This record gives sequence, structure tokens and C-alpha cells, in this order.
Amino acid sequence: MGKITVYFENKPYVVDDDLTILEAAKICGYNIPNLCTWKKGRCSVASCRVCLVKVEGERRLVPSCAYPVRDGLKIFISDPAAVIARRTSVELLLSNHSLSCQTCRKNGKCELLEVSKRVGAEPDKYIGEKTPVTLDFLAPGLTRDTSKCILCGRCIEACKDTQGIGILGFEKRGFNTFVGPSENRSFSNVPCIQCGQCTLVCPTGALMEHNEIDKLDQAFAEGKYVIVQTAPAVRAAIGEEFGEPIGTKSTGKMVAALHRLGFYRVFDTNFAADLTITEEANEFVHRVITRTPGPMITSCSPGWVNYLEFYYPELIPHLSTCKSPHEMMGAIIKSYYAEKHGIDRSKICVVSIMPCTAKKYEKERPENSVDGIKDVDVVLTTRELGQLIRRSGIQWKKLPDEEFDNDLIGDYSGAGVIFGVTGGVMEAAIRTAYYILTNHELEPIEFAPCRGLEGIKEAELTILGNKYKVAMASGMKNAKVLLEEIKKGESKYDFIEIMGCPGGCVNGGGQPYVYPVFLENEDDNIQDTYIQKRAKVLYDEDRGRKVRRSHQNPDIITLYKEYLGEYGSPLAHKLLHTHYNNKREKYPDLKED
Ligand code: SF4
Ligand code: SF4
Ligand code: SF4
Ligand code: FES
Repeated sequence: MGKITVYFENKPYVVDDDLTILEAAKICGYNIPNLCTWKKGRCSVASCRVCLVKVEGERRLVPSCAYPVRDGLKIFISDPAAVIARRTSVELLLSNHSLSCQTCRKNGKCELLEVSKRVGAEPDKYIGEKTPVTLDFLAPGLTRDTSKCILCGRCIEACKDTQGIGILGFEKRGFNTFVGPSENRSFSNVPCIQCGQCTLVCPTGALMEHNEIDKLDQAFAEGKYVIVQTAPAVRAAIGEEFGEPIGTKSTGKMVAALHRLGFYRVFDTNFAADLTITEEANEFVHRVITRTPGPMITSCSPGWVNYLEFYYPELIPHLSTCKSPHEMMGAIIKSYYAEKHGIDRSKICVVSIMPCTAKKYEKERPENSVDGIKDVDVVLTTRELGQLIRRSGIQWKKLPDEEFDNDLIGDYSGAGVIFGVTGGVMEAAIRTAYYILTNHELEPIEFAPCRGLEGIKEAELTILGNKYKVAMASGMKNAKVLLEEIKKGESKYDFIEIMGCPGGCVNGGGQPYVYPVFLENEDDNIQDTYIQKRAKVLYDEDRGRKVRRSHQNPDIITLYKEYLGEYGSPLAHKLLHTHYNNKREKYPDLKED
């Protein structure tokens, strides 16, 4: 990579020679409107034509997202023909758009709307026939409304390149082109893992999480005991919904907002993350003692569990039987907590605020219920929590810091907090498994090989003279590498952690959008570093907790002593463990990408 000189509006700038005009422009202080690019200012589709600029020597305007820089290149962003062409490109997109901004939940975070404002587009400049519309509201995790799709292809790239799955594609041709699953099937009728990574990149309201705020309203209207829990990754990102810089810890304000929204109790899912660790570490130790063929694989990410059930069902025996933390929390609220307080469990509504769209699907699984009563009733994403707070009129900036309710199940350890980032579950499990096997605490407590955002990490530790190899993967494309090794009998690992979303829950499909157009006050490289910044919030909180090991959480100790008995007891199994299904049987010809 070398350095070259390019000119924007006749001013010289020295830039790297491997950039597109769009990338170079950003570095030099110019934001060229764009819609079909994502992350890096480059695009293979170049479909939207919103980024057109004039380049000296070219007869036609060029898409800046696909045009490489070269030494001496002269680029004119404000050339009148380029300005008009960019506006026309947006107006043509709007001519085939539903334009229901008043009721669209994407309003406020819609890149199309923002870019339309910036280029001065008139929405009704071109009026004509519209492409037939598909509305898909059948899947619990996400929805599709093609009347808002601009055919940018970003979702196709996310599903195929990030997750290695390939559910979405361009279908039909010409004017009838649409983006969706093959044969225009519903998300509920294809092997989509409901991870929501496609919703994170969609610039419009075409792909969204399945909103459940109405269900919450109904629970309040029915006078239920509405108890809310929040996953660790939510506190690391909810501030972004209110203009806080990425990487702002918002635990106190988030809890204060939930108190003001009228929830009966506000709990931290971290309590149940500790419970997951005690059960899962115990399960691992049992497998070691009984010499069950490894590796054991974690089960707390429902997108990942879906992936295994669809694409590698033969490996289901490797999956831990532990429910995910928020499901455990729901089960404990509707049993132990309800009994201690004399509350009829059918009158409780458990609401989970999660960074994840797949958790919406997970709570509907019949396996995640006890005696016919669901563990969790409503799942809202971090983004929906933002909507809920805005709707209520609460002023985020004026919120004080408040504590989670400390009522039987309110305490949590630092190990529970780091669940929200890739490698965190493994690090937390190692702390407790070491204790169960040796009766001593692991020192030093932080286990560096588990940290970092690489797609696949591995580590080795020695306990009582035995070596254990562990691996961690996030994103299904990475998970697939480890799964293929197991399938071929070549896996060298004893324990594997897998998270469905790249980087873990801090980058879950339900987290706030990180769109360049709205990030002018952030660092230039924020799209490369936002996951790290959110992860740092959780590692800092772990470091600040007095108790940092799940098995030392006083409320967990009391729960076992007074209610569950031993780790892995019959009651613990009834409430906290689950089972899985071979979903491939429904799709016998299924091939992962
Ligand atoms: S996707 Fe954007 S432009 Fe379209 S209706 Fe929603 S807010 Fe308006
Ligand atoms: S939810 Fe995940 S698996 Fe489903 S289409 Fe979107 S990216 Fe692909
Ligand atoms: S659904 Fe969204 S991300 Fe996918 S092509 Fe349409 S507008 Fe782009
Ligand atoms: S952003 Fe360049 S063509 Fe769409």
C-alpha cells in the first residue's frame, strides 16, 4: 500500500492508494451520500447510484463507492450535474417506496429518509406503477416489508458473507425484482436462524425486528405483575439510542428508566447468567468425569442453537442442555420468586430486554416452558427499549443512576456481565469449572486468551495436571469451521463457546444501528471499533464487581440452598434445562452456503 495525491474540489489530499473515492472522501472530510454500501466505503453492487460524483477525464458520472482512487485523480462532489444526479437517484428510489414515514418505526434511524433530506429529494417527483408488495409478519424474530426495500443488497451480504448462510437473494428480474428468501417464502418457512444481522444493515424499514410493545401494553392493561430483566449487552448500547457516544455504560440510567416505566421489578439477567454458569460448568465436569465424548458446546445463543438444529443436527448431543440465561430467569421468577412472594405465577408477565432478535423466537419454543407456562412472555430488543423510553416522554439526559432491585434474585457477579461478549461465557465457565474440579479459585481471575474479537479463538488450561483445550467462535461462518472439525472427528477441543452474532451479543441483531450517516460525531473508524467499545463496557463492569465468580453470587448460593438443592438436581433440570430438535428433517435438501 502506497500513498498518492488526489484532489477534491481542486484541493490536494494525500491518501492510501487502495481506497475507493467514497472512502478517500470520508478521510478527507467529505461525506458523499450513499445507500448501498456498508461498513467499508466500497460496494460490489453499486445499485443505488446515490454516490455519483464527477471525475476529470470521465465522460459519465461515476459511483464513488466502486471507483478506485489513483494518483492525480480530480474529483468533484459539488459539480452541478453530480448534485442533480444524486437527487434524481434518490427520487427514483422514492417513486417505488411506500412512503409511510409517519407510522414507520424506522423513522429517526432511516438512512433513506436522512439521505433524501440531505440531497433535497422531492418524494413525488416521479409517480408510476409500484412493484407488488410482500409483507411477512409470521416469524417471531423479524419482519419483511418489500414496499420499503431499495434493493441495496446489504442484507444479502450480511446473511451470506457474515453468517455464511445465504437465506436472502435478489428474486425475479427487472421491475419485478425483490429481495427475500427464495420463492418469496416467509422467514418462518425457511432455515433462517432469526439472528437479525440483516436487520442491522438494512438502511430502511424493510427488515425489522418483530415488534412486541403491544404485548407489553396488554400485560400492563391486564394488571399483571410485569417483571423485566435486561441482558448484559443492553447496558453497553442503549445510550446510543439517546445520542450517547458508542461505548457509554448506561446501566444506572437504563434501570432508572425501567423503574419509571412502571415495571413491578427490574432485574438483571446476569443473575441467571451466573445460574447458567453453575449448571453448565457442572454439566461440563460431569461429562469429563463420565468421559462423554467431547466437545461440549454452549447453548445460550438462540441464533446459534437454530443454526445447529438446521445445519448440523447430528451434532445436537454436543450441545449443553442448559436453557439460555433469560429463559432460566423466567423459569426462576415463575417458580422460586413467585412461591417466596405468594404470587400466582399465571399472573406474572416476564419481559426480557435483549440485544437479540432470535430470543423472540426462542421464547416461543414449547421446550422453554414449565408445566405448560412459558418462561418468558415478551422479548424486546435494545432498539425497542429505546422506542419505549422515547414514547413515555422520559428525558434520558435527566435520568439519575439507579440500582437493580435487590429482591431474592437481584445480585450478580462480574462473570455474569461478560456473557455479552464473545469469549465471555467461556471465561466465566472456566472460573467456576476450575473451582468445582479443584475446590480452589482460579488465579489470576482474568483469562486473556478468551478476550478479543477474532472470529475463532482457542486456549488451553491445565487443571489438576490435565490439559483442557477450549475454543470460542462468533458468527456462523466461524462456527462452521469448528463444526466441520467435529463432524470429521478431528476436533481437539473439550469445550466450545459459540455465539450467533459476530463479536457476541454486544453486536446482536437487536442492538442500535451503527449507520455512518448518523455518526458524524464519532471517530472516523468507529465502524471498525464499535464492538470493542461496547465490549469494554462489560469488561470494566466485571472488574468493578465485588463478586466476580458465578458460584460466589450470594443469591445463587441461597437459591440452591433453599430451593434447587445441588447443581444439576432434578428440580434444576426441570426448570433450567431443555432439549433440541432436528430441524433439518423439514428441509432434506438443505445445504449451507
Ligand atoms: S423506510 Fe424510511 S423513508 Fe421509508 S417509510 Fe420508513 S422512515 Fe419513511
Ligand atoms: S435473520 Fe440471520 S439467518 Fe435470517 S436472513 Fe437475516 S441474517 Fe440471514
Ligand atoms: S431488505 Fe433492506 S438491506 Fe435488504 S435489499 Fe432491501 S433495503 Fe437493502
Ligand atoms: S452507494 Fe454507491 S451506488 Fe449505492
